[in-house]
Amino acid sequence: MKLVVTAKLPVVVAPRAPGIEVVQLPPEGGPAGDGRMPLDEVAAHRPDGLVCLLLDRIDAGFLDRVPSLQVVANVAVGLDNLDVAAATARGVCVTNTPDVLTDATAELAIALLFAAARRLGEGERLVREKQWQGWSLDLLLGVPIGGATLGVVGLGRIGQKVAQLGKALGLNVVYTAPRPSPAAEALGLPHLPLDELLATSDFVSLHCPLRSDTRDLLDRRALSLMKPTAVLINTARGELVDEDALVDRLEAGQLFAAGLDVFRGEPKVSPRILACERIALAPHLGSATTKARMQMAELAIDSAVSVLRGQKPRTLVNETAWPPRSRSTTARDA
Ligand code: GLV
Repeated sequence: MKLVVTAKLPVVVAPRAPGIEVVQLPPEGGPAGDGRMPLDEVAAHRPDGLVCLLLDRIDAGFLDRVPSLQVVANVAVGLDNLDVAAATARGVCVTNTPDVLTDATAELAIALLFAAARRLGEGERLVREKQWQGWSLDLLLGVPIGGATLGVVGLGRIGQKVAQLGKALGLNVVYTAPRPSPAAEALGLPHLPLDELLATSDFVSLHCPLRSDTRDLLDRRALSLMKPTAVLINTARGELVDEDALVDRLEAGQLFAAGLDVFRGEPKVSPRILACERIALAPHLGSATTKARMQMAELAIDSAVSVLRGQKPRTLVNETAWPPRSRSTTARDA
């Protein structure tokens, strides 16, 4: 059995995969100099298992080139870099890394909420650029947080944690999700249709996966429902939001601020976003704590190894791919 790992991980892989050949980049990194193995090289290794990053686009074409593959273990909770349906159709198991990044990502959403509401990016720039003229009554006034209404869009693990943190901060928390969630009852959260949540919330924080039905969820029409004093937080995926419409509303004073950790086409960020003072920016840092990243790597490796050993992993996202088609023999014989 061969396990290919497309990037350097913060844990040593081989001891977690006894009896499995582990293929990784040499310490000096890959040919592109970005510490990642190109997918052509991955395919040439004919792996049985793959541990990959959200930067690796695993589509039907790639899966067809690697018929030996039994499992793709994404070191991420999001799955939009993977064609899960194509994997399922080919009997390839897909796993992700839930739970271990929940706290880190929820905490970053709250950090961005504070940064955007209290204009910390603008304040930092003012001080660093030596433009600060001194304390004044009307300098960089923000919006209050305690007592405000936080609308959580998507009540999965991260959405629930954001809701808990919001309540602890004295926010009134409401949520929207395709169906009312049993977890919400335990938290005492009212369920609102998306449009009503957008129209009544002071803070809106996005925690839904990127899928065809959530792409552009916050389009121009949806954004126009938000209050002019409201703040939008996105730590999920850039493609959930129409970025141009967002900047239009901020520039026109029809929305107070935004905090963005994710962008369409990242790591490129649109010049309009870069120029918009009212957006607090972070470079996709949701799960970026040492602990979360280490646990994500461990979980992804362990999930891949489980599948290669014939054990169903807890993190399997495509149940119907189980058990994986035993394809190695045919692939190698082909
Ligand atoms: C990060 O964005 C993840 O999906 O884990």
